[in-house]
Amino acid sequence: MTDAALPPLSAERARRIARAFLPDWPLGNRYHYYYARAKLRSDPLYPGVCEALRGTSAPVLDLGCGLGLLAHALHEEGIAVRYFGVDHDARKIIDARRAASRSDLVDAGFETVDLARSLPPHRGSVAMLDVLQFFTPERQQALLDGMVAMLEPGARLVIRTGLDDGSRRARLLRGTPC
Ligand SMILES: C[S@@+](CC[C@H](N)C(=O)[O-])C[C@H]1O[C@@H](n2cnc3c(N)ncnc32)[C@H](O)[C@@H]1O
Repeated sequence: MTDAALPPLSAERARRIARAFLPDWPLGNRYHYYYARAKLRSDPLYPGVCEALRGTSAPVLDLGCGLGLLAHALHEEGIAVRYFGVDHDARKIIDARRAASRSDLVDAGFETVDLARSLPPHRGSVAMLDVLQFFTPERQQALLDGMVAMLEPGARLVIRTGLDDGSRRARLLRGTPC
């Protein structure tokens, strides 16, 4: 997949989606709100993945989904596919569930899963966005084999990952909070 030609979401759409991540009370923690807003506004990833999945009907498994921003981007784009996101960060999964419910994403589900240990069962499309670099080369190979085995006719496999070339940049990317 190449996302070079696609712009990120407009400020208006990014803000609309991010509002679902606001805390319940005025003095609550707004970290996920600001993160979602800035990420959606600056990263062409989500429009790129939406284009890759447009026209498909297979359910999507989002591995290392974080806050589930892909589910919101798909919804904004009117791409009506069942979505299931997993991440090992239980706090993100709680916020992802809450934001999906606030935005009426009725066909979106989330679960806490450590991908270093297991992959959930799935048939359909698979997305793994900026996650593969967190695993050992052996686990990366097992994850890739597992993802390919999930595909069915008409489904898509969408991966974005940094290259681990041993550089300082690669180490920084792995350590960047998200
Ligand atoms: C750079 S963020 C990308 C989030 C999301 N894919 C996106 O693009 O919006 C990387 C995500 O991978 C998750 N992650 C890292 N190691 C993981 C593991 N062992 N199992 C599941 N998720 C993991 C992190 O918690 C984080 O949410």
